[in-house]
Amino acid sequence: ENKIKFYGKHQSGIATKGPEHVYFVSLTCVAKSKKELKELFQLWTKQSAELMNGRLIEQAKSNTLLPPVDTGEAVGLNASHLTLTFGVGPSLFENKALGLQSMKPTELKDLPHFPKDQLDAHYVGGDICIQACADDPQVAFHAIRNLVRSGRGKVTMHWSQAGFNSYEMKHKEKRTPRNLFAFKDGTGNVNVESSKDMKEVVWVQPSESKNWMIDGTYLAVRRIQMHLETWDRTALSGQEETFGRHRDSGAPLGKMDEFEDMELDRKESGGRVVPDTSHVFLALQVKDRMLRRSFSYSDGINPNTGAFDAGLLFLSFQKHPKQFINIQNSLGRNDKLNEYITHRGSALFACFPGVTKGSYLGAELF
Ligand code: HEM
Repeated sequence: ENKIKFYGKHQSGIATKGPEHVYFVSLTCVAKSKKELKELFQLWTKQSAELMNGRLIEQAKSNTLLPPVDTGEAVGLNASHLTLTFGVGPSLFENKALGLQSMKPTELKDLPHFPKDQLDAHYVGGDICIQACADDPQVAFHAIRNLVRSGRGKVTMHWSQAGFNSYEMKHKEKRTPRNLFAFKDGTGNVNVESSKDMKEVVWVQPSESKNWMIDGTYLAVRRIQMHLETWDRTALSGQEETFGRHRDSGAPLGKMDEFEDMELDRKESGGRVVPDTSHVFLALQVKDRMLRRSFSYSDGINPNTGAFDAGLLFLSFQKHPKQFINIQNSLGRNDKLNEYITHRGSALFACFPGVTKGSYLGAELF
């Protein structure tokens, strides 16, 4: 079975494990009324259910005298574990024509400026986002292309980013994927199979936000450039001290196994310990947790520097944006990883709860 269910308590693409490709798009809303926007989400609901079933957006036979309703490049391809996740940004609620001002949760606001940010307006914000994940990049792209196309006159494209993850397999199970610095990324992550963890960290519970957000979550998006050339000139020991983990095994420094406990207060006694400037050490200085679900990207060459334009499309889900903000602030200026990365893009979206049959995406909002 390569289909993920569209209908359910939560949207797909959040607790869904092991995504291989992502096509993420941030849209500007040009709809002129709440009614127009609501109709768009109703249409997208119908189309998303078809797409995640491995079908085209419209089953009717094409009229040869008209452009096809579905663009067609997914004909013959299966569902490929396609997931579609929809969210809305703070700016959508400030658009007076839509009359949604009173529905805005107070915590839904642009992420603050962080010390080392070098944001490029080209990759910032958005009124609506759609995250399409699939094991086949063409299936993910097809979904976004058709959803955007059916939103003509109501949404325009603001920015997008494609990304990928590759998995080592063990006993037919996907292992933790490696990022472009070759380190396993996701070892210390929230366990999506634990409903307790997901309730505590990811899913908004009653009275924690506006009612329409119950069972939804917040998505923080950061487009983070990784300076591969600088990294590749760094000694392996320095690379490992940057994260506080061994590269090949993913184990905490001084340990053997990827999933051994991270002990942060161990004093040097011959073996290697986790430095207090390492990424993991600093990420663990605050109590907050979040679900990271990032992808690597490689977008050719930066024409100004001649270096690779590659990095991480960092995506994290949390029930309150402050979880991301507190961790990012803890990484602050001291994270050794800062020497090798630059944050270029940023956005925050409120992701709706899941959809029950007969209802539609964002129904509680309208
Ligand atoms: C852990 C890489 C950005 C938060 C890790 C690990 C790696 C890594 C290799 C260790 C393995 C793991 O537990 O997943 C990166 C890279 C980044 C980046 C390459 C940028 C290009 C961020 C950002 C945040 C963040 C922006 C949040 C603001 C965390 C957290 C952990 C972690 C919370 C887990 C700590 C633990 O529970 O052990 N990261 N990261 N990372 N990172 Fe990042």
